[in-house]
Amino acid sequence: MEITLLGHAGVKIQGSKTIYIDPFLTGNPAAATSPDEITEADIVIVTHYHGDHLGDAFSICKKTGATCVGIHEVSVDAEAEGITTEGMNIGGTIDVEGVKIHMVQALHSAEKGDPAGVVVEMDGKKIYHAGDTGLTLDMKLIGEFFKPDLSFIPIGDRYTMGVPSAAKAVEFIQTKKVIPVHYDTFPIVSADPEDFKRRVGDLAEVVILKPGESYSL
Ligand code: NI
Ligand code: MN
Repeated sequence: MEITLLGHAGVKIQGSKTIYIDPFLTGNPAAATSPDEITEADIVIVTHYHGDHLGDAFSICKKTGATCVGIHEVSVDAEAEGITTEGMNIGGTIDVEGVKIHMVQALHSAEKGDPAGVVVEMDGKKIYHAGDTGLTLDMKLIGEFFKPDLSFIPIGDRYTMGVPSAAKAVEFIQTKKVIPVHYDTFPIVSADPEDFKRRVGDLAEVVILKPGESYSL
């Protein structure tokens, strides 16, 4: 399966299905691609109702016919725009075209509904996208219950965990591999991924991607 960082917290997961999570491209100075270049998608997941996560999700769904997955309040707005959508809430698991999506807690805010993270199960792999969150003990539960193969963890500080707390989160999450996200998009969320990698040490393999770069999982 091919993992691509789109920029900020936006990722593309290409397996038996094509999944986008938090595709914030328009207005993103670090975006590696433009929404015009996205022509195929099966599922677009929105972790929470903030512009830098909702981003181009609805327009990509309209163009590709992808199913928008998000917390109830995101789904209601998607449906109002005529988008195929699956609403859910924290604690729930849904199956969309053979992909299992579990919604988990995130410690953050949102303009509508609550913020969330997701664990995506596809082709035998479990991928955790933390969304925007602070460090929380609940992450131990995510680790115990899901044991993710790969996790996307925010490290940019100010609005989410910073490098020291994100490194602690990796201990809780018990993830095999981790890709830091949500940093250096804007000066106010600048962070050093190499410092993150040093602090994580042997706890997990840290894969640092620049926007546009891919990793085979
Ligand atoms: Ni946010
Ligand atoms: Mn954010």
